[in-house]
Amino acid sequence: MKNYLIILSAGMLTFAASCASVEQENDTSALESRIDSLEAEIAELKTELAPGLAVLMNQNYDHLKKLEVAINEGNWEYADFCLHEMDETFEQIVDLHNNHDELVQPADTQFKAFIFPTFEQLEEKVDTKDQAGASQLFIELKTNCSKCHTANNHGFIRL
Ligand code: HEC
Repeated sequence: MKNYLIILSAGMLTFAASCASVEQENDTSALESRIDSLEAEIAELKTELAPGLAVLMNQNYDHLKKLEVAINEGNWEYADFCLHEMDETFEQIVDLHNNHDELVQPADTQFKAFIFPTFEQLEEKVDTKDQAGASQLFIELKTNCSKCHTANNHGFIRL
């Protein structure tokens, strides 16, 4: 009789344990599908709320104009600030619009070709407060922005 009781309670324990694990599996799969739907919602919001390519380009243009003034006035701190903001905008464009419809090649590939080499040299000139060098590279940078517009069938956007 004692043996039966032991076997019975062991059996009940095993049963309880397996119920708990089924419940746990259900919880996990419910959480997983919740995560999936939240991820889908975030992706949708990102597309809906993110600034468009033209908005980010205009943002870059604002900083480009302010950069020109800052270089002319020898306001190196502001020039540095503008370059930093532009760098962030390039990153945002790559993050949000790397394969935008209006681009013939991914944005990051084209930034490497048209922008970054000149941009990095300009950063150096600003760091060393070299006004003549910075002014020259500024013109080069602005020209390269327009070159990318031409390469992407937007040659009419001349800066
Ligand atoms: C990868 C190539 C590329 C580079 C590099 C690039 N642009 Fe653009 N830009 C575009 C494209 C494509 C458009 C058109 C966007 C659209 O149709 O939504 C555009 C649009 C613009 C516009 C027009 C936005 C409007 O609403 O009127 C401005 C201003 C602009 N770019 C400024 C700049 C500046 C400043 C730089 C350099 C710092 C630059 N762009 C570099 C591709 C580029």
